[in-house]
Amino acid sequence: MSETATPGGSVARGSWAMVTGSTSGIGRETALRLAEDGYSIVVCGRDSGRAAETRKLIESAGGRAVDLVADFNDPAAVRRLVAETNEALDGAPLDVLVNNAGGGGFAPTEDTSEEMFDAAFNLNVKAPYILVGAFAPAMAQRGRGAIVNVGSLSTTMAASGTSAFQAAKGALSMLTKSWTAEYGPRGVRVNSVDPGHILTPANEQIRDMMGGYLAGLPAGRGGRPEEVAEAIRFLVSPRASYIQGVVLTVDGGKTAVVAM
Ligand SMILES: NC(=O)c1ccc[n+]([C@@H]2O[C@H](COP(=O)([O-])OP(=O)(O)OC[C@H]3O[C@@H](n4cnc5c(N)ncnc54)[C@H](OP(=O)(O)O)[C@@H]3O)[C@@H](O)[C@H]2O)c1
Repeated sequence: MSETATPGGSVARGSWAMVTGSTSGIGRETALRLAEDGYSIVVCGRDSGRAAETRKLIESAGGRAVDLVADFNDPAAVRRLVAETNEALDGAPLDVLVNNAGGGGFAPTEDTSEEMFDAAFNLNVKAPYILVGAFAPAMAQRGRGAIVNVGSLSTTMAASGTSAFQAAKGALSMLTKSWTAEYGPRGVRVNSVDPGHILTPANEQIRDMMGGYLAGLPAGRGGRPEEVAEAIRFLVSPRASYIQGVVLTVDGGKTAVVAM
């Protein structure tokens, strides 16, 4: 692998980035871009076939990747992912963590079972929490690292029928600040990207219903997953060396204007 600019701006050989949820959508596009930037990639998700596909896309472009599988609804599986990652990296540095895997919790409050609520928090909050607890201390010890949490517009705006998801993404958004306080002084930059309406498999089923609404956005359309991936890539890069604890909203202008 060629030499790579690390988040702190120095150069490390053999640096790795983990992108959770890189079997699809925003995560896959992010994994491909970080591989282009020279990182070796830990690809992960639940679907082993699509995880292997992402790995092969990276390899066929000349990069290096491993594909691992874990269901983040199960904290024990996340801890296994940590162990498997450490084994696969065999002492090489993991300098970047993109907490992208997310979703769940889409139901009115009265119809949200405890299982659904716990699943939303396991996926969107507890899994990132376990991963940061596992990997950020070593980044801090090396004095370099970048973590990006993928949130949602629901960290600042509410919509009916998604309260558990919104609460979980709100918690993740606060963790961006908590982790900036904890790890920022030791060289680890932690930021958030909040996507608006991005055309990924996550919302394929409601695509037709959203057409008119998306046309009314300042951008006049839904976002593409690569447009979110570029924002993540920027926050990871040394070009963002003085940016810590922020939310970069990628929403085609949605939150900037009042709907008319
Ligand atoms: N698309 C949007 O409009 C939008 C808007 C706001 C926020 N976001 C956020 O953006 C992030 C990426 O979403 P996307 O639109 O790219 O969705 P996507 O294409 O459906 O991809 C979601 C990814 O998360 C992984 N994932 C989901 N549940 C998981 C679980 N229990 N354990 C492990 N991995 C799991 C999936 O893995 P498998 O497929 O392998 O299971 C997949 O790789 C999410 O955090 C989402 O909340 C998206």
